[in-house]
Amino acid sequence: MRFDLSDEQIQIEEMVRQLARKAFAPKAAEIDEESRYPEENMRQLAELGLLGMLFPASRGGSEAGPLAYSIALREVAAGCASTAVGMAVTNMVGEAIYRFGNEEQRRKFLPGLATYGIGAGAFALTEPSAGSDAGSIRTTATEDGDHFVLNGSKVFVTNGAYAGVTIVMALTRKDERKISAFLVEPGAPGFSVGKAEHKMGLKGSNTVSLAFDECRVPKRNMLGAPGEGFKIAMTALDGGRIGIASQAVGIGRAALEAAIAYAKERKQFGQPIAGFQAIQAMVADAATELDAAQMLVYRAAHLKETGRNFTKEASMAKVFASEAGNRACHKAVQILGGYGYIREYPVERHLRDVRVTTIYEGTSEIQRIVISRSLMR
Ligand code: CAA
Repeated sequence: MRFDLSDEQIQIEEMVRQLARKAFAPKAAEIDEESRYPEENMRQLAELGLLGMLFPASRGGSEAGPLAYSIALREVAAGCASTAVGMAVTNMVGEAIYRFGNEEQRRKFLPGLATYGIGAGAFALTEPSAGSDAGSIRTTATEDGDHFVLNGSKVFVTNGAYAGVTIVMALTRKDERKISAFLVEPGAPGFSVGKAEHKMGLKGSNTVSLAFDECRVPKRNMLGAPGEGFKIAMTALDGGRIGIASQAVGIGRAALEAAIAYAKERKQFGQPIAGFQAIQAMVADAATELDAAQMLVYRAAHLKETGRNFTKEASMAKVFASEAGNRACHKAVQILGGYGYIREYPVERHLRDVRVTTIYEGTSEIQRIVISRSLMR
C-alpha cells in the first residue's frame, strides 16, 4: 500500500494551498459578511485549471483526476468554503457533460466552464417537495417539435444565478416516472432565477430557486439518453460526495489550526491554555478524526481514479468527513470560548460553513441508506 501522492498531486496541493492562504482566506470573512459571490476567486481558479479538473485537455480541461481534484478542493475550502462549493459544483457539471454529453455539447460547454467564460455550472435536481427522495421530482419536460417544454421549479441550486449551464432533471414520461437531464442555458424562454437564499453559512455561495414556465429547451440539449436522468444525477452525486467530504476536511482543518494557534497564545491560570489536558484532548480527537476522514476521502478518490465502483466508499467518506468536520469546528469554537462565538475570529464562520456538509449532496441519513443498501444487497 502506498500512501504517497504523486509529484504532480503534491505540486497542485502546494499551489492551491498558497492561493487559498494568500488570496482567498484574507477576504473570506468579508465575503461572508457581505454575502457576496466570489467571482474573482472563480476566475483565479479558472486561470489555474481548477474548474475543469475532471475532463481532458482536449476539451479545455486540466485532466488532473479525482484525487488531485479532492486535494485542491480541500485546500480551497480551508481558505474560503463558499468558493469551494462554487468550484465543486462547476467541476461536477463539467464532468457530467464530458461523461454523458455528445460531441456538440462537449464542444459547446466544456471550454467555457473550465475558463469560467460562460460562468459556473449548476445542478438542479431538488424541488420543494423532492429533496432526499430525489426520484419524486415533478418538473415535466413535454416534447413539442424540436424542443422540450419544461414546467416546474427547483430549489437550493448552487451557482444558479451565475451559471452558464444548468443540468436540470425533469420527467419526460410522467406516468412511468422517467427522468431525463437537460442542459439549460441562461436566457432560455420561460426560465427564471429566484432570489438568493439567506443561509446560515456558505454565505458567499449562491443558492437560488429556479422556475420553468413553458420553458423551451432545444432537443439537442438533452444530456444523455431519454430516461437516463436519474442515473446521471446519481453518478454525478457519487463524485460530488467526494468533493463535499474534501470540503468538510478542509474546513475542519482550518478551524483546528485556528484553535491550536489560539490555545498557544491564550493564557489563563498563569499559562497558555494549550498546556491543559482538556484542550489537548479536544485537539487530539479533532486531528485524529480529520485524519481518518482524509483517509476515507483518499480511498474513495483513488477508487474513482482507477475506474472502480466507489458509490459506497464516497458515501462513507461523505458521512464521516462531514460529521468529523462538524465536530472539529464545534471543538474549535469551544477552545476559543467567548472569542469563538464572535466574528473577530474565523471559527464561528467555519462552524456555520461546515454545518451544511451533513445536509447537501445527500444528507448523512441518505449516505447511511446508500452504505447499508450496498452491504445488504
Ligand atoms: N449510480 C448509478 N445509478 C444509480 C445509483 C448510482 N450511485 N444509485 C441508484 N442508481 C440507479 C439504480 O440502479 C436504479 O436503476 P434501475 O431503475 O435501472 O434499477 C435507479 O437509479 C433507482 O435507484 P434506487 O431504487 O436506489 O432509487 P431511490 O429512489 O431508492 O433513491 C437515493 C436512492 C440514494 C435515496 C437517492 O434518491 C438519493 O441519493 N437521494 C439524495 C439526493 C441528493 O443527494 N440530493 C442532493 C442534490 S444536489 C445539492 O445538494 C445541491 C448542490 O448543488 C450542492
